[in-house]
Amino acid sequence: MIYFDYAATTPMSEVALEAYVDTAKKFYGNTNSLHDIGSVSDQLLKACKAKMASFIGGLDFQIFFTKGGSESNLLGIDQLISQSKGNHVIISQAEHNSLQQTRQLLESQGYQVSTVSFDEYGVVDLVQLKSLKRDDTCLVIVQHINGEIGTIQPINEISDWCSRHGIFLHVDAVQSFAKLDLSQIAEQVDSLSVSSHKIYGPKGIGFLYLRNPLVHQIERQSSYLLKGNTVDLPSVVAFTAAADQQISIIESENERMLRLRQLMMSHLGNEKAFTIYESDEIKQLPSIVGMGLDGVEGQLVMLECNRKGFAISTGSACDVKYQKLPSSMSAWSVEPNKAKEFFRVSFGKYTTEDDVIKLARVLNDIVLHHVSI
Ligand SMILES: Cc1ncc(COP(=O)(O)O)c(C=O)c1O
Repeated sequence: MIYFDYAATTPMSEVALEAYVDTAKKFYGNTNSLHDIGSVSDQLLKACKAKMASFIGGLDFQIFFTKGGSESNLLGIDQLISQSKGNHVIISQAEHNSLQQTRQLLESQGYQVSTVSFDEYGVVDLVQLKSLKRDDTCLVIVQHINGEIGTIQPINEISDWCSRHGIFLHVDAVQSFAKLDLSQIAEQVDSLSVSSHKIYGPKGIGFLYLRNPLVHQIERQSSYLLKGNTVDLPSVVAFTAAADQQISIIESENERMLRLRQLMMSHLGNEKAFTIYESDEIKQLPSIVGMGLDGVEGQLVMLECNRKGFAISTGSACDVKYQKLPSSMSAWSVEPNKAKEFFRVSFGKYTTEDDVIKLARVLNDIVLHHVSI
């Protein structure tokens, strides 16, 4: 089977696996224990925090390891909401499922929530965002890269606007960490979520960056993997090792991903049969290709590919599970019938040119048998 679903999750890298096993063997002490075996574990945890902070231009006291991107999202928003007085939140329509749930939670607590859709380039519509602002707007929630179509949101512009109006900004960077250079991002946002399993680290671990953490309040939230709980140090160290490796090759990997993307496009036969959901090259992560085949449900394309030994997806793994239409398609105002055609191909570390050419052939075959153009 050839894997084309790296945006859903990634296999652990050798570096991360080695770091995991090594830490589990040598640093088994509880980071909260006061004896020397605990202290060396705690030192290692602190070193990982400092390293993660350096990757995004933050400081170690601003980094909190969590159980993944979803938990980071929930915790980040909880923190920002508790520090603000307003009653109105703006959220982008194409957010990950964990943030859609947060939306419901906020509404049940009496907050009013407005949604902002995509513009014609598949990124957050800044004109609409600005028009939604009210006197009591306290928080804006946007993702950095959309996990279904790979478009990159204008975080600089959004953060400038938010700080001019005294509005908090939470950014879900699960799809951008270690894929774009985030070394300047900490100064632009109030909170930021990251997950390990998208970048060849273990599953069930991530971190939250908070510009101004209310540390005591976070420590009380016992469901989170934070100070007070027993830290999963092997996962933290493996995650840090995976991040370190990926960040050191961001540029060359993105160039390689762009070549793979162009290669796939050049091998797709009947151009009219394919719709590619993408933005300009500078606003697009090359490794995520959101597409549709005219008149063919994405589900069928996925099953056909699976039958022929290729793992692709019909959208974000959570939405697929609940058979929801991809949120990026609704945000981009794509007609429901067209949105059903959506499927996603995502490349990663182990994708080769040969794999991409083979996948393009399978897609061309599906066009031949199922598309009437
Ligand atoms: C944009 C985005 N945010 C958050 C998450 C959730 O991360 P995790 O699986 O670590 O909870 C995902 C994973 O699919 C994602 O793509």
